[in-house]
Amino acid sequence: MINPLRGMKDLIFEDSQKFEYIIATASKIARNYGYSYIETPILEETALFKRSVGESSDIVGKEMYQFMDKGENDVCMRPEGTAGVVRAFISNKLDRQDANYRFYYYGSMFRYERPQKGRLRSFHQFGCESFGEGSVYEDFMLISMIKDIFDALQIDFSLNINSLGCSDCMPLYRTKLVSFLENIKDDLCEDCNRRIATNPIRVLDCKNEKCQILLQASPKLINNLCGSCDSDFTKLQTLLNEACISYEVDTNLVRGLDYYNKTAFEFISNNIGSQSAIAGGGRYDRLVEFLDGKSTPAVGFALGIERIMDLVILPESKREGLYLGGMNEESINSLLQIARKQLEVQKVTMEYKPKSLKAHLKSADKAGARTIGIIGDDELSNGTIWMKDLETKEEKTININEMLSL
Ligand code: HAM
Repeated sequence: MINPLRGMKDLIFEDSQKFEYIIATASKIARNYGYSYIETPILEETALFKRSVGESSDIVGKEMYQFMDKGENDVCMRPEGTAGVVRAFISNKLDRQDANYRFYYYGSMFRYERPQKGRLRSFHQFGCESFGEGSVYEDFMLISMIKDIFDALQIDFSLNINSLGCSDCMPLYRTKLVSFLENIKDDLCEDCNRRIATNPIRVLDCKNEKCQILLQASPKLINNLCGSCDSDFTKLQTLLNEACISYEVDTNLVRGLDYYNKTAFEFISNNIGSQSAIAGGGRYDRLVEFLDGKSTPAVGFALGIERIMDLVILPESKREGLYLGGMNEESINSLLQIARKQLEVQKVTMEYKPKSLKAHLKSADKAGARTIGIIGDDELSNGTIWMKDLETKEEKTININEMLSL
């Protein structure tokens, strides 16, 4: 027997229903916020992810599904959605238009991580990316959208925010941080020591408890922001307070992808174990230019669908549609005609094999049908079909020709 690869799983029955429900709910809300659907390829040039997510990130350094294709192109299965959407934004020359563009997407992402609960190698994200709007109001609106999505799905969350500064204040802060880290490096873990040289900001994100204690005394970026970053971060907090959206400022929130600046945020659930981030995002004002487009401010987020599936409860499904069955072989032609007509207006479940009324009623119940239509021997000779509404229990016998000519 061939099983799915480690860290990958099929979404089937209740899982696939949850998946559709989450995507439908999030898509509707995103469209209300002015986002339109975008679909980009799963496979992209490896260089795209190296240049956007960053060579020093774990995603690019350790987790990429990367290979040479038959044409000797170095390609990669997308580990996240932002890079592809930014690439599409530039490829379609939207960076040349003086306009705002807002896109939403969903689909499979691939990261060769160590699988555990809530951490898969093939997983799904729903994401939104907004281009052209540099104002912090847009950051607020995105956070507000995520809150609306979680409220609609009845999921509790806590929100952590931080500012990662900009090209004015970040380099000065980085220098300060590196000199602090150099002084304590003998006591920091191996990963931290490697990151001091490659990406010192990520040291703040170390999960090692001993490192975290030592890092408590580190200089904080939010105390070293330039005037513009500081006023935007203050404004974001004012907007969240006014909208009664609770949050905490987490000065260690740096995100695992290199493209962020200014606002960074994560939504956390306390009900799904250690892999608790259910959404993450932030501003990435330099990425479009970095990928050879025209400088364009941008901000976005992605939700982790599988983690949300562990939290969501499906609304009770209502009976819907028509179940059709016969008690004799001869009724099949009429049933097929009725089915094809009824499919224009409702869901139809059809049983091809003749069965007793009792067996059909059982199957109709299992199929969740609202109405059952049966052709027995009497109905066959009269050219009629017996119908019953399984909710109101109302019954009637209808002439098949009349039904087909409606
Ligand atoms: P991210 O934080 O890497 O951000 O991923 C977003 C969400 O995807 C996480 O919060 C988590 O719920 C889910 N996720 C990540 N890795 C896994 C995994 N191995 N298994 C299951 N779920 C996972 C991004 O990907 C950015 N592109 C978000 C963004 C969009 N920033 C700006 N625009």
